[in-house]
Amino acid sequence: MAASARPLVIDTDPGIDDALAILLALASPEVDLRLVTTVHGNVELPQTTDNALRVLHLAGRSDVPVAAGAAESLVFPQPERAGHVHGVTGLGGVQLPPSPAALDPRPAVVALAELLMASEEPVTVAAIGPWTNVALLLATYPEAAERIDRLVLMGGSAGRGGNVTAAAEFNVWSDPEAAARVLGSTVPTVLVGLDVTLPTVLGEEGIARFAAAGPVGATAASVLQQYLDHARTAYGTPGVVVHDALALTEAIVPGTLGTVRRDVVVDTGGGPSRGQTLVDRRAVSDAPTAVDVAETVDSAAAVEFLVSRLAGLAERVG
Ligand code: BDR
Ligand code: CA
Repeated sequence: MAASARPLVIDTDPGIDDALAILLALASPEVDLRLVTTVHGNVELPQTTDNALRVLHLAGRSDVPVAAGAAESLVFPQPERAGHVHGVTGLGGVQLPPSPAALDPRPAVVALAELLMASEEPVTVAAIGPWTNVALLLATYPEAAERIDRLVLMGGSAGRGGNVTAAAEFNVWSDPEAAARVLGSTVPTVLVGLDVTLPTVLGEEGIARFAAAGPVGATAASVLQQYLDHARTAYGTPGVVVHDALALTEAIVPGTLGTVRRDVVVDTGGGPSRGQTLVDRRAVSDAPTAVDVAETVDSAAAVEFLVSRLAGLAERVG
């Protein structure tokens, strides 16, 4: 890791694309992954937590602490999880070896708050599951939340509708009240939504490249298989949208995505557009709560970045 590597925390619900995002962070010398916090989401919390531990162990990084966070959304139970996409255990039916590391005994928000308060360098937080833990941090440790240098969120959509309902993207739909709290904060925030993730498709050729680079790459490819099958059946696409890995790319290399500062609100009503992110694209905003919304992406470059980094990690770890 480079001496100038920026401290990074990943808040996550692994999740196939979450697993890839964690591996991408570990593969990237620009950042120093200091903590992984887990949240309910794609599958139940005990499973996302175990998956996070196993993914770190796969990459030989069981030294990175993992702290478990919220098991439920803030107000309403999440209507359904995403086992049909990620597999019932969240990692596409692949059984990764268990980690020898023990779970950090602290609740996720405590671990995150302590890290933020203690860090002498600016910390990036990438939240790639439902944003329940981030909302809890804002409510319980506002002084720590204020120290977040950059909050990179995967979720929402400005103009592409939703992927769970016609209006809502999965991470926001899973906890709209938390999303409203997070997007209403003054923490410097980048929103990486479906507008930029959906066009960024990792195809079979790229997967084959890191699969051939070593056992870690081959395992990552096998975890992706179920996601690939689902994409082929559900959408007829010969590749996968690795939403969370794109958010991590922006966290690792700020400015990867073209962003515009916008006002964003979340629909927390009970109607058909519950969980929609309403992005006001009529104007650039200078409000303190405005969010840098990712609107443009060089998808080919982003896929190449992911593939080459994962291949590099696979070669290094062996
Ligand atoms: C988001 O939903 C989850 O299923 C993925 O892991 C990603 O974080 C995409 O909508
Ligand atoms: Ca996720």
